[in-house]
Amino acid sequence: MTRGSTTIRRAKPTITDAEAIISVGRPVFEITFGHLTPPDELKSMLDGIYNVESVLTDLNDPFKVFFLALMNERVVAYSQLTIGGVSELSCLQNYKNYIKLGKIYVDVNHHGSGVSRTLMENTLNEAKRMGYANIYLTVYGENDRAKRFYEKFGFDKIGETQFTIGKRVVTDWVMLAPLQ
Ligand SMILES: CC(C)(COP(=O)(O)OP(=O)(O)OC[C@H]1O[C@@H](n2cnc3c(N)ncnc32)[C@H](O)[C@@H]1OP(=O)(O)O)[C@@H](O)C(=O)NCCC(=O)NCCS
Repeated sequence: MTRGSTTIRRAKPTITDAEAIISVGRPVFEITFGHLTPPDELKSMLDGIYNVESVLTDLNDPFKVFFLALMNERVVAYSQLTIGGVSELSCLQNYKNYIKLGKIYVDVNHHGSGVSRTLMENTLNEAKRMGYANIYLTVYGENDRAKRFYEKFGFDKIGETQFTIGKRVVTDWVMLAPLQ
């Protein structure tokens, strides 16, 4: 799908796509969440998450679907849906037929540019096309920019959960949107 100069495509289980995800994800994670954990812990955590082998494992996982947003043929953002399973989150117990938005990360130079909107719309449409009635996510409770972004797409807070980053436990919001 292309809108303006942004193209969205599903990621493939290739080294090229794994490296593209790392090139966006690692710096975005560092800038957004780096203050929550000491630098040495942060580095070992990022090394563990953002390496080609680990990302390739995720790209080959049938329960994880990645979408890439490209501008001028360069990947500037990605999103990821997690399919299947019943969540252990108690606030989801009254909901059925849901999918999880596992991630949406946009290169900082493209925040506020509309890339995130195009990628989110595409991701929500794909979730709908797969037949899901609801989509949920967890977001760090103090990530005000992301929370505002999600609200623009109809997500509402339905509960809270704990998230461990390094040795620190923080509170995440659980947000859900109907897929109509
Ligand atoms: C979250 C993310 C995908 C949103 O994309 P974006 O292009 O920045 O989003 P937008 O600019 O369209 O929307 C952000 C909204 O938050 C608002 N905002 C910006 N900074 C804010 C702040 N500190 N507090 C509250 N709202 C804020 C913006 O004004 C905008 O709202 P508006 O359209 O009503 O004016 C992107 O910022 C990102 O990748 N962030 C880092 C990774 C991350 O946090 N991912 C999500 C959690 S896993």
